[in-house]
Amino acid sequence: MSQTNIADTSAGKRVMWTYMLTGLGIFFLMVLVGIAMRAAQAGWIGIDPGTFYSLLSLHGIGMITAMAIAGLGILWYFVSRYTPLNQGVAFLAYGFFLAGVASVIISVIPGHYGALWTALYPLPFTGTYWPNWATGAWLIGNSLVMIGFMIWCAQILGALLARFGGVRGILAIDYVFKNREFTQSGKEPPPPEMFAAAITAIDGFIGGTAGLLVVVALIVHWIDPSVAIDPLWAKNLIYQFGHTFANLTMYMAVAGVYVGLPMCTKRAYHTSIPLAIAWWGTLTFVIIAYFHHLYMDFAQLQFVQYVGEISSYLAAIPVVVVTVFGGVMLVHRSGMKWSVGSMFLFAGMIGWVVGGLGAVLDATIPINIELHNTLWVPAHFHTYLLEGVLLFIMGWAFVNLEQRAGSASSLLTRWLIGTGMFGGGALFLLPFYIAGADGVPRRYATEPTPGPYYAGVATVGAAILLLGFLLAIIEAVRLARSKNTSVAA
Ligand code: HEM
Repeated sequence: MSQTNIADTSAGKRVMWTYMLTGLGIFFLMVLVGIAMRAAQAGWIGIDPGTFYSLLSLHGIGMITAMAIAGLGILWYFVSRYTPLNQGVAFLAYGFFLAGVASVIISVIPGHYGALWTALYPLPFTGTYWPNWATGAWLIGNSLVMIGFMIWCAQILGALLARFGGVRGILAIDYVFKNREFTQSGKEPPPPEMFAAAITAIDGFIGGTAGLLVVVALIVHWIDPSVAIDPLWAKNLIYQFGHTFANLTMYMAVAGVYVGLPMCTKRAYHTSIPLAIAWWGTLTFVIIAYFHHLYMDFAQLQFVQYVGEISSYLAAIPVVVVTVFGGVMLVHRSGMKWSVGSMFLFAGMIGWVVGGLGAVLDATIPINIELHNTLWVPAHFHTYLLEGVLLFIMGWAFVNLEQRAGSASSLLTRWLIGTGMFGGGALFLLPFYIAGADGVPRRYATEPTPGPYYAGVATVGAAILLLGFLLAIIEAVRLARSKNTSVAA
């Protein structure tokens, strides 16, 4: 591995585009899997239940990993603008991601693994319809992705601590508590996107440790079945990692708003005291909010159920409110010209708010009693992943392409892409909410009524969304190939 430290943005961009294109490529494949599953739930195509659960396993973990890879690439680039980073380390982590994805695909496509990302002990080991090696390939694939993630976290955390003056500096502690002295001395707090990077690295490290701990234990059990594992311990650690990793994809991608919206509005997105404190909330509570996944586990300590509920609110609400408020203020009366990039970044904030509301509702114990494991759950997380995280990633990509080309897409193109991505998206998501509120269970290959009817509507919506996505990709390629004719890019 080259020891050369890279400070110039071309290396940063290389890492970013490699990660982003890989993430979007996996996303595209997983959309096809998702549409097939929804069409099967509608009864339009025949997929046997075993294959359905294998596809669901692949889709769930594949999508989250896709968003994470893209988001980590963006953050890596942002950090590289402030401090030199060794791109060899980024590609080492990337290699682990690819190896992990390949192992997971092998476990699912020829192997038919079907116990989902939760791999709830002892589920993947007893009474399975797939061979034992497929469970091993799944677990090893997961551990490889976790190792890649930990490498990324270690590199970024080390760089941030060195660049911004340790934990005090990167978390802007003096900026908040000794603001006057801090600003009078001419110092500046880290820019907003550095909070996203720091919180991803710190919480990612904690989540990755929990994830690796349990996956290694499961691998040991796979090798020697006489080694027993406590199911509640395993469930806590799996969800600690899974919830944290999935949630962090949002906090990775939102960095695209902090940097991209100012490029569109020609205004700066400054760090403020409320923004720093909001990020402290996310830092502290994202890692313990996962308790809301275990409300139904009677063996769980009762007090942590309340921790789960309170943390769910505190992890999400402050940072959403401060970020979206700041974003809207940036756009307000800025004279910003709408482009595909700015449209995606702005709409992504709406998706984040809507999906986030659905999520905190579900994390509220009296409501969770009704909604637990209904389609309400995929409703809210698809909202903020598809109409939040994905839009932030694509928005950031488009802002880059538009700036490089010195031009934006035509109004008609924007309308067509917007209709596909938002209109199709809404038609895909609403049936999840309605069917969920009606009590249709999630993760059923064959749904009880009225599930199949709503699945049909959702399949049409997802197909429209796919068209919008493909149109956006064509437009992105056109922008990437067009020459910059403007004087000031
Ligand atoms: C048009 C795009 C998409 C389609 C058609 C689609 C379709 C589906 C379907 C049918 C399910 C099963 C729901 C159930 O019955 O429980 C599902 C689950 C899931 N999807 Fe998607 N999805 C899409 C986009 C996404 C995105 C963007 C992400 C994340 C970034 C994502 C992550 C997941 C996850 C984590 C699960 C749950 C897996 C599990 O239950 O273990 N999906 N999706």
